[in-house]
Amino acid sequence: MNFEIIRDPRLMRARGEDLRRDGRRVAVVPTMGYLHDGHLSLLRAARASADVVILTIFVNPTQFGPNEDLARYPRDEDGDLAKARGCGIDLAFCPDAAAMYPPGAQTFVEVRELARPLCGEKRPGHFAGVATVVTKLFNLTQANVAFFGAKDFQQLAVIRRLVRDLDLGVEIVGVPIVREPDGLAMSSRNAYLSADERRQALALSAGLAAAEAAFAAGERDVAALVATAGALIAAQPAARIDYLELRDADELAPLERVDRPAVMALAVFIGKTRLIDNRVLRP
Ligand code: PAF
Repeated sequence: MNFEIIRDPRLMRARGEDLRRDGRRVAVVPTMGYLHDGHLSLLRAARASADVVILTIFVNPTQFGPNEDLARYPRDEDGDLAKARGCGIDLAFCPDAAAMYPPGAQTFVEVRELARPLCGEKRPGHFAGVATVVTKLFNLTQANVAFFGAKDFQQLAVIRRLVRDLDLGVEIVGVPIVREPDGLAMSSRNAYLSADERRQALALSAGLAAAEAAFAAGERDVAALVATAGALIAAQPAARIDYLELRDADELAPLERVDRPAVMALAVFIGKTRLIDNRVLRP
């Protein structure tokens, strides 16, 4: 297949249906662009598993709150398309917001309990925006399989539940977090950090690593594990913890002791930049 860029959702839907009819296995990698190595690992995993790989680039307005960074979210479509072609992608779907949400659009997909804590609590409406756009992207691309990064742990859990609950019939693959050599989880928002903030942001992965080390040494008390990570992060002058929690990894329910797989998830402002990261702890 020659590399193709589609911007019109109706055309995307028609192409998706053609691919399905031809019996091609189609993978989709939904992104908001400004691709980094984390995204490229999703594209490579998709390439290895499907006949046709579709990258979607869409900075989805409905998942941003009124005081968030929608307007300044980094964009580089030409650079993204060059990287995508380098990964052997077949098709890029790059719609604009007016095409995805025409006047009068008023239907949203809501995942309830899983979307309530953590980012759901701090970013009201965020996961309804994510679940809605992901449902639309699945419908438009008609993909058989979709790839998402594990850095957005709660997002991945929400999307898995969405697919199960609404019988969407798309296989969801979670791909491990890709980190910079010094441990910082890759994120498009890392581009906002000054050199000094970039250095202070290392406390996020260091805090998670310290909690993991304490866990490996036998600590099971949630408050103690959270305090271990929190102390390292709070020591950075530019850091403000939005949340830092250790919850059950399946339902994101609160825990007092780690007696089953759990996720330590955090969101921390470094200056004005909000970063997320997580670590799964398995007893
Ligand atoms: O993870 C992201 O980049 C976005 O939340 C997603 C899944 C592409 C939906 O807009």
